[in-house]
Amino acid sequence: MKKHWLIGGTAGVLALAGLAFMRVQDAQQAANAESPDTYPSGQPIAFPHNIHAGSQPGQNRMDCMYCHFSAERSVDAGLPPMSLCVGCHQVIPGTTNPQEVQKLMDYWKRKEPIPWVRIYKVADHVHYPHARHIKAGLQCQQCHGQVQEMTVINKIDPAWGGHNMGWCISCHREKGASTDCAVCHY
Ligand code: HEC
Ligand code: HEC
Ligand code: HEC
Ligand code: HEC
Ligand code: HEC
Repeated sequence: MKKHWLIGGTAGVLALAGLAFMRVQDAQQAANAESPDTYPSGQPIAFPHNIHAGSQPGQNRMDCMYCHFSAERSVDAGLPPMSLCVGCHQVIPGTTNPQEVQKLMDYWKRKEPIPWVRIYKVADHVHYPHARHIKAGLQCQQCHGQVQEMTVINKIDPAWGGHNMGWCISCHREKGASTDCAVCHY
């Protein structure tokens, strides 16, 4: 199912890449083009979630779990392997920030992993299993905000309750999930 998406999707995004020429640049992207090395999140590549996962014209409606595919099967949502990015970007050079796509291709050629900066993290003594939450029907946006509209992901989104214990517990109470200390703590 997901493999099919890649094959069908690549042709689809090639068509969409043409459309992207007409896209109005937002201020954020214009700023990135001027100073690509000072991407606000501090990421090594200015990866725009909105262009990939958004549903506005010129955006590509990719499912979150197309890239974060471990979210429904394991503890970590994980980041996609570089080969997944390269599969598209060896034919899509980018139109507004081509130098950012070039950085991706350079990491690939050097066989060097992209040093993405971690944004969301709970303390080491806390156990947070993604799969249990996705299987319970929760949406990514309930905890991470409207990621598909973000150029840059920041922890400041109000949907993120400061990743403190009160936030976890209040939803667990509301939904009848366990509030045993040992369920969340090692
Ligand atoms: C094309 C692949 C791709 C798609 C589609 C995608 N992401 Fe991501 N995601 C990434 C990459 C690469 C990063 C690391 C760079 C960054 O933080 O912007 C990331 C980072 C994140 C992070 C922060 C991870 C951390 O370090 O804590 C969250 C949360 C996230 N994505 C959620 C989502 C959600 C929700 C969707 C769907 C609306 C989505 N992503 C769609 C590739 C993708
Ligand atoms: C299914 C195909 C697909 C995948 C997979 C994909 N991208 Fe993209 N990406 C696109 C398209 C289409 C655009 C818009 C290109 C444009 O505006 O010309 C884009 C845009 C970008 C841009 C902005 C370029 C610009 O000129 O504004 C960057 C940076 C980027 N992608 C990096 C990545 C990274 C890193 C990954 C892997 C985590 C990834 N992409 C995965 C299709 C994909
Ligand atoms: C109930 C809240 C909640 C939901 C729903 C949720 N997450 Fe998370 N997410 C978290 C927490 C908490 C962390 C930090 C986990 C840690 O530090 O171990 C996190 C971390 C992440 C990370 C960082 C890397 C990792 O693997 O931990 C990514 C990427 C991410 N989430 C993506 C997603 C995506 C995509 C979805 C939807 C498929 C999603 N999340 C749904 C709470 C949530
Ligand atoms: C928006 C609601 C919501 C938030 C926020 C939330 N959870 Fe949950 N969590 C649930 C639900 C619903 C379940 C029950 C899933 C099931 O029954 O399988 C669950 C299950 C769990 C489980 C498995 C419980 C068991 O009985 O084995 C753990 C561990 C857990 N959550 C940890 C966390 C932690 C840690 C946080 C905060 C960082 C958190 N959750 C935030 C809704 C939430
Ligand atoms: C639903 C998940 C969940 C449950 C249940 C839970 N905790 Fe926590 N707890 C957390 C999270 C999340 C944090 C904050 C971690 C962080 O700051 O990154 C935390 C932090 C803590 C801390 C450290 C406070 C600090 O300042 O770092 C202690 C102590 C603690 N919890 C004890 C307990 C006890 C005792 C219980 C049972 C009465 C319990 N917790 C139940 C999720 C949970």
